[in-house]
Amino acid sequence: MSRKPIIAGNWKMHNTTKESVELTKGIIEGIKDLNKDSLPEIVIAPVFTSLCSVACELKECKEIALSSQNCYYEPKGAFTGEISLDMLKDLNVTNVIIGHSERRQYFKEDDEMINKKAIAILENGLTPIICCGETLEQREMGVTDSHVSSQIVKALENIEPSEIEKVVIAYEPIWAIGTGKTCDSQEANRVIKVIRNTIAQVAGNAVAEKVRILYGGSVKPSTIVEQMAQSDIDGALVGGASLKAEDFVEIIKGAM
Ligand code: 13P
Repeated sequence: MSRKPIIAGNWKMHNTTKESVELTKGIIEGIKDLNKDSLPEIVIAPVFTSLCSVACELKECKEIALSSQNCYYEPKGAFTGEISLDMLKDLNVTNVIIGHSERRQYFKEDDEMINKKAIAILENGLTPIICCGETLEQREMGVTDSHVSSQIVKALENIEPSEIEKVVIAYEPIWAIGTGKTCDSQEANRVIKVIRNTIAQVAGNAVAEKVRILYGGSVKPSTIVEQMAQSDIDGALVGGASLKAEDFVEIIKGAM
């Protein structure tokens, strides 16, 4: 079963609109001479305030899809500070990152909320990129597998298998995020297989084989080739290294 790789850049809370547009231009320029047929799916996730301008920049570029870093699940109403899926679709956003560990940790998002967001994203015809991953403490306690499995089961509750096959999962061990300490590729692949088995239990083998599961956590141009060589790693969710066009383009090349 061949799954098309995805290289996604999560820009987190970085870049003014002008900087976001510059970075987008740099990535477009960097991929323009690459063989279009062997490119991975490329996704970039700027801050909300830059989405409109970046969408404009991507108008002529079919190779790069736009993602937001979050959304709210209600269609509209008195939810100060939140952004609905209709508002995102308005800007050609096609993917939404949900359940990032930073949102779980700093903004107290729980599995129930992440599940509601996943359902709403799919109902709106967009692709959720659902993040999961363990803390260093959980890893040392030996509960990594049960923790990520539980996060995935809860995120996918009440979603039909035919919809589950459209989701993208990102396994991001929290201790590897922004630390420069990349998770060993074989170990990342092992946990990703655990996640795939969990999806198989929830939605069947055929669906599990279709779901793209990315690795995230200090992905760099120097780590991507080995990561992509693993049987179950279908791409990367990149933080820091997605903020420099040259590095992000190198990572894209590593997935070709
Ligand atoms: P870094 O690549 O900076 O470790 O961030 C990973 C991440 O959190 C992507 O969502």
